[in-house]
Parts: sequence; C-alpha cells; structure tokens
Amino acid sequence: MQTQPVLKAGVMGFPIKHSLSPRLHGYWLKHYGIPGSYKAFEVKPQELAGALQGLKDNGLTGVNLTIPHKVAAFAIVNEIDGISRRVGAINLVTVNADGQLLGRNTDAYGFEQNLLSHGYARQGGRAFVLGAGGACRAVLVALQNMGFDEILLSNRTAAHAKRLANELSMANRKISPVEWEKAPALEDVDLLVNTTSLGMTGQPELDISLESLPFSATVTDIVYAPLETGLLRRAHERGNKTIDGLGMLLHQARPSFEAFFGINPEVTDELRRFVLAERN
Ligand code: ATR
Repeated sequence: MQTQPVLKAGVMGFPIKHSLSPRLHGYWLKHYGIPGSYKAFEVKPQELAGALQGLKDNGLTGVNLTIPHKVAAFAIVNEIDGISRRVGAINLVTVNADGQLLGRNTDAYGFEQNLLSHGYARQGGRAFVLGAGGACRAVLVALQNMGFDEILLSNRTAAHAKRLANELSMANRKISPVEWEKAPALEDVDLLVNTTSLGMTGQPELDISLESLPFSATVTDIVYAPLETGLLRRAHERGNKTIDGLGMLLHQARPSFEAFFGINPEVTDELRRFVLAERN
C-alpha cells in the first residue's frame, strides 16, 4: 500500500507561544483530511537565516514568519514579488524545486479578501485610513489594488503618514496625508479603516468623531481583539456597515495553506468560532 507523503510546514517567530497560526492551519488540515503538520518554531533573530536556508533539508515545504522576522527575511530570500516588495514585509516563505526561497506577503490579500467576503465590492471612491505603522502598509497597498480613486492617510505623528504617502503613492493611486484630528473631515468617505493599535484590548479607544461620515460608508478595523472595537460599535450604532478584523487574519492565511498543502481553504463561521474559542 502506498502512503501519501506527510507535508510539513510551520511558523517561525520569537516569541512564538501566542501565535494562532498552528490552531488555524491545524483546523484546515483536519477539515480537509490532509496528512500534514504545521508547527510553531521558536527562532531567534540571529538564527533566522540558517532556519530558512535549512527548510528543504528539514523536509519543510515552507513557513510563515511573524514578529520579529517579517522585515529581516527580505535580505535572506532569493525572490520577492512586486506587491510584497511594496508592503515591505514577508510573512510566507516557500522553497521551490531548485531550493530557492520565495518570499511573499499575504496581508494585503487578506485585507482585500475580508472586505470582498463581506460584500464590499465598490469600484473607485474615497478611503480614509487611520495610522501609519507596519500594518498600515499592507492596507494601503490593498486599497490601491482595489482601485480606490482617493486614499487619505491620517496619523498622530504626521511625519510617519507623509513618509508612507511619499513612498507608496502611485500616479493614478495617490495617497494624501491629512492632519490627525478629533473630528476628521469624513465627508464623501466610502471606507474608513483603523490600522492603529487604538481600541485593542488594553489600549485606549480611538475616540475620533464620526459625525461627518456618510451613513452609506463602511467602517473596518484591523484590530480583532476585541472583535467589536469601540470604533466599530459606534459606527454600527449610527447605522454604518462594519467589518471586523478577524477576517483579515483568517484570509491572509489562505495563500499560505495553499502553498504548503495544495488546497485553497475556506473561511467559514465555524472556523471563526474555532479560532475565537482559543482566544477567550
Ligand atoms: P503596527 O506595526 O501593528 O502597525 P506600529 O508600527 O507600532 O504597529 O503602529 C502603531 C500605529 O498606531 C501608529 O500609526 C501609531 O501612531 P504614531 O505613528 O504616531 O506612533 C498609532 N498609535 C499608537 N498609539 C496611539 C495613540 N495613543 N494615539 C494615536 N495613534 C496611536
């Protein structure tokens, strides 16, 4: 009797204890009946190059990367696609037949897929983005990819928003820095996105006024703990459509699972409940 090879993958980080990825990929492996494994590997920064270069010898099809390796891996992999270059961080490394390491970022994909899966299919329009940290880059690249005509970027430290806008603006997909205000000008905004850490468990709430936001606008937060941030609650209470951040986390994992195990997995309500049960 022939047995199927066991495909091996995992996530590298430091620390790694709190990663949700083993639970998430483990769920899909079981759900699809795939004889594979997905493990958490504690890899210190000085060990990263060796760990990635040793993927093939250790029988791994690839790995995800988390803090603090997402930027450092740029200098280690052999190839990076254009979108991932723009995002400036790598969260997926796969090995090809020649042993070359291919780096990718799937966060922009995850953000876009989360919106699409909630029926957000508007073409063009104006997006207003709060924050200018690491997570914001993937959101900006996704919004450009989705075809927004105008992207406004507001951050507490104006210099960070300016720098990001300069770096990522494209001729027909401009990013315009605007001032950080308690009552921002949200007229004509179709999509409002929080990429700051405000609203996260243990952090202060994002307390900007939504007064000028059209009721037709959608509001989304990349924070997913809690699932309903203060911003989403206030937006929901005034009648705006809201999309929580858990979907981005789940959708960004899909291309990784497909690269490791050959199946493009589904994000379902059951999966959401399964992942949330771990957190609570
Ligand atoms: P990440 O990589 O997760 O995006 P980060 O790079 O630390 O995290 O970015 C955090 C974001 O939240 C930044 O935009 C930060 O604003 P600054 O650039 O001014 O630091 C924003 N942020 C954090 N605390 C904030 C606060 N109390 N008020 C407003 N913005 C805040």
